[in-house]
Amino acid sequence: ELAVRAAIEIRDEAHRLGLNVTAGINTGEVYFGADAEEGQEFTLMGTVIDLAARLAGRAQAGQILVGESTRRLTWRAFEFTPLALEIKGVEGPVTAYQVERLLPHPKKARGIEGLRAELIGRDEEFAKLKEALAKVLKGRGQMASLIGEAGVGKSRLVAELKEVALAPDEGRPIPLWLEGRCLELGTAASYAPFLDILREHFAWSVEDDDRRRRERILSSLQEMTERVNLPGERFEEIYPLLSRLLSVRLEGEWEERLEGDSPEQIRRRTFVAVRDFFVALARQQPVVLVFEDLHWADSLSLDLISLLMEGLHLAPLFLLCVYRPEREHKCWHLGTIAAQKCRGRYTELYLRELSHRQSRRLVASLLRSEDLPPSVRALILDRSQGNPFFIEEVVRSLVEAGAVYQEGDTWHAREDGRAIVVPQSVQSVVLSRLDRLSGDLRGVLQVAAVIGRVFRRRVLERAAQQEAGLEGTLWELEDRALVYQERAVPEVEYSFKHVLTQEAVYRNMLRRRRQEGHQRVAEAIEALYPDNLEEYYEQLAYHYEEGGHAEKAVEYLLKAGEKAKRNSANEAAIAHLTRGLELLKTTLDTPERIQRELDLQVALGVPLVLTKGHAAPEVERTYARARELNEQVGDAPQRFQVLLGLRRFYFARGELQTAHDLGEQLLTVAQNVGDSIPLSRAYMMLGETSYWLSEFAQVRKHCEKGLACYDPLEHRSHMFLYGNDTGIGCRILEALALWHLGYPDQALERMHEVLALAQELSHPFTLVFALYFAAVLHQLRREARAVQERTEAVLRISAKRGFALYLAWGTILRGWVLAEQGRENDGIDQMRKGIAAWQAIGAAVTLPKSLASLAEACGKVGKAKEGLRLAAEALAAVDVTGERCWEAELYRLKGELLLLQGEAEAEIEACFLHAIDVARRQCARAWELRAATSLSRLWQGQGRKENAKELLQEIYGWFTEGFDTADLREAKALLDALA
Ligand SMILES: Nc1ncnc2c1ncn2[C@@H]1O[C@H](COP(=O)(O)OP(=O)(O)O)[C@@H](O)[C@H]1O
Ligand SMILES: [Mg+2]
Repeated sequence: ELAVRAAIEIRDEAHRLGLNVTAGINTGEVYFGADAEEGQEFTLMGTVIDLAARLAGRAQAGQILVGESTRRLTWRAFEFTPLALEIKGVEGPVTAYQVERLLPHPKKARGIEGLRAELIGRDEEFAKLKEALAKVLKGRGQMASLIGEAGVGKSRLVAELKEVALAPDEGRPIPLWLEGRCLELGTAASYAPFLDILREHFAWSVEDDDRRRRERILSSLQEMTERVNLPGERFEEIYPLLSRLLSVRLEGEWEERLEGDSPEQIRRRTFVAVRDFFVALARQQPVVLVFEDLHWADSLSLDLISLLMEGLHLAPLFLLCVYRPEREHKCWHLGTIAAQKCRGRYTELYLRELSHRQSRRLVASLLRSEDLPPSVRALILDRSQGNPFFIEEVVRSLVEAGAVYQEGDTWHAREDGRAIVVPQSVQSVVLSRLDRLSGDLRGVLQVAAVIGRVFRRRVLERAAQQEAGLEGTLWELEDRALVYQERAVPEVEYSFKHVLTQEAVYRNMLRRRRQEGHQRVAEAIEALYPDNLEEYYEQLAYHYEEGGHAEKAVEYLLKAGEKAKRNSANEAAIAHLTRGLELLKTTLDTPERIQRELDLQVALGVPLVLTKGHAAPEVERTYARARELNEQVGDAPQRFQVLLGLRRFYFARGELQTAHDLGEQLLTVAQNVGDSIPLSRAYMMLGETSYWLSEFAQVRKHCEKGLACYDPLEHRSHMFLYGNDTGIGCRILEALALWHLGYPDQALERMHEVLALAQELSHPFTLVFALYFAAVLHQLRREARAVQERTEAVLRISAKRGFALYLAWGTILRGWVLAEQGRENDGIDQMRKGIAAWQAIGAAVTLPKSLASLAEACGKVGKAKEGLRLAAEALAAVDVTGERCWEAELYRLKGELLLLQGEAEAEIEACFLHAIDVARRQCARAWELRAATSLSRLWQGQGRKENAKELLQEIYGWFTEGFDTADLREAKALLDALA
């Protein structure tokens, strides 16, 4: 087979160069002898060789001819045309075969001669499928579900439809038929059936490296663009996403197109890319996508199928979904979704057991004879309950056992019918057949069963440690209809005839043998695919777990979990990681175990937050445990990342002091490592917590240090690891701190720098980060128009990219703008919405600031009571979290609201005094100025002009800049009035 494939490749390559080669191939025993004169060279001799040479000689340009023996060995993999040739030196015509093409699906060996059944019944279902297919071929996209229990005949019906679809017919187009399978092994890999389909479509072989694979994807997409089925800019979007999906490494500039997007954004883009790809493909030629065994599918694949339904009106695409009626599995909803999304294009077929009469016909058809002793027939029909797989297996087992035998055209039962034992269950039928296999065959079959329903020949070869003779063994298993070769591309792959066969073999193995088998399979996969291990993480985890090698299984579960995170398959990630934690409990208590558990817990954090929110108890437990473990681990290399994850969590939750302490630990770790990248990040983290804790002078110190060791040339690697750019982060915090410290103009200048840098980076998340805090600075400076401008940009980008956090924050700011512009009620409405969205994420930090804006707006519309309630809520939060950044302002607002409500002046005065006191302690001159202005105004009203003037003059006089800002202008006006 390899020789024929090589011949095809050589011919095609040569053809591209404008050359025509011929080839002759033959198989058999040859002799070789040393060439007498040269001593070193060997010559091959024999009739087999002669014939091969003659065939090559006789072949016409571009033709590949093979001999009978070669054809016999390879007919399942290629299409041949027989030719009768006269060949010199051989008497009579010789039959040679011209190789036409490689078959994408090798032909199934349908079992022992005489035991092959035609399709029984299913007329109605088959008609409906053909009808749907006909519509597709006429250009109307369709979707069908084929639902039924194991062994009832789903795959058979698909195979029958395929035969019809691919049969040449002048009047209609031939569709492109692609099948994707789901495997039964543990938690499924994300996108499994799609990967199967795409790999087959791009037809790459195991030997192809990433470059070759990229070329295949590129040329396929190029063809689409050339034929105008795909716009050029979609090409540029789809190519990197498809490559990434298929784990094909990209080159730099393409890779960059994916950088900076979160897994969730990549997932969304990937979905759309896959849809567009198949739609474009179907515009070239009708496409049938078969999704086999979706009851084992991962949820991303099912979601993607739902999305594909939306493409059915765009192109002749046929989605054929095959699954068992398992109501707990998500695949069960496909029908409901289809009924909504593509009603009128959807056919649902439920395959039931065969009727008694049909079962009888099936038996007759299998044996090619009606005259089975009635008692035996009754026994078969009774046991198998109309399940065609069961019927076939029972008949086969009886024939193999010799209980039923053939004489001429008639079948007889060996003994008296009653003595014949028909096994009770599918499992026992299969086993009874297995018992009659020789030890060798059984051994290989068992290793195969350990691999799974589908197994690659190379993996089997290695795991069964049986290279010689494996081919023959497989042929024999095929002849007994236990397995069949399912695929040759990208590599030779076999399948058990049915998953029930595989299960029976597997369950019957001794535990110890199974374990050994799994272990060897895992090792075989590791050895065979060292460059693409990522594709196999889930399988490796499964085999190592079943092989009783918990440490290795945990290692791969962690990797599978990280991989699922990258695909934004958060639930799958949680499943892998949780399983890893469970398994870990069974391992020895060593320092490595603590490290592993820490890795798993930390990896679990983000997907848990994303699916359950920051406030969920599981999230809290995970991080608390991670923190505890972190204390126990020494100087682990990932300690920095671990601490960073922990810190992010406590920060978002508003546990600022904890977050700050973790920042200190980050700094220590970074200092020990001595690398400037983590070092500058650690300073930024400390700057951030210092800011919200209202230690504004500290913010400047940390950020200056952070910037001092920040190297802009390395900013890219920073951003993707940390989510945003450290240099920009430090500058933002500095700008904010400057405002609080009483330098509103310098603050603004710094922020302008930030925006200029952020625009350059083309990293959307960093850009939104910068725009948002620029808006906040304008809010502090009370410049509503500028806030509005920035906020709208934040909201626009966030909506497009799905940045939930900035959407919520942006909405709150938009509300503030509205309130400033005199549309207080709309503003309040927006702010409430934003705060609710923010809290839905489970985050708490910045809450006092948001509540302050809301309370202020309430005051403006005379709702003092409501405002006071909000201010009290905010102050309570300040006490809990230590987020004192807005504390002074909150006391001032409280005073203003009390004033509005006409409360006792002493109480109001106390609020303002407290605000001033807090502001002074924090060196927050900006807040002090506002509070002093409020208090002066109160005193002015009480006739205490001198006190008022003195108080305000002192702080106003301190300022050296920002005289244009609203706060300073107001203070100035009041001072003038007091003069
Ligand atoms: N209607 C039928 N007529 C004849 N043979 C059938 C029929 N349905 C199923 N079979 C045979 O029964 C076996 C199991 O069917 P299969 O399609 O693999 O089941 P499923 O995919 O539903 O689990 C196959 O060997 C198939 O050829
Ligand atoms: Mg099937």
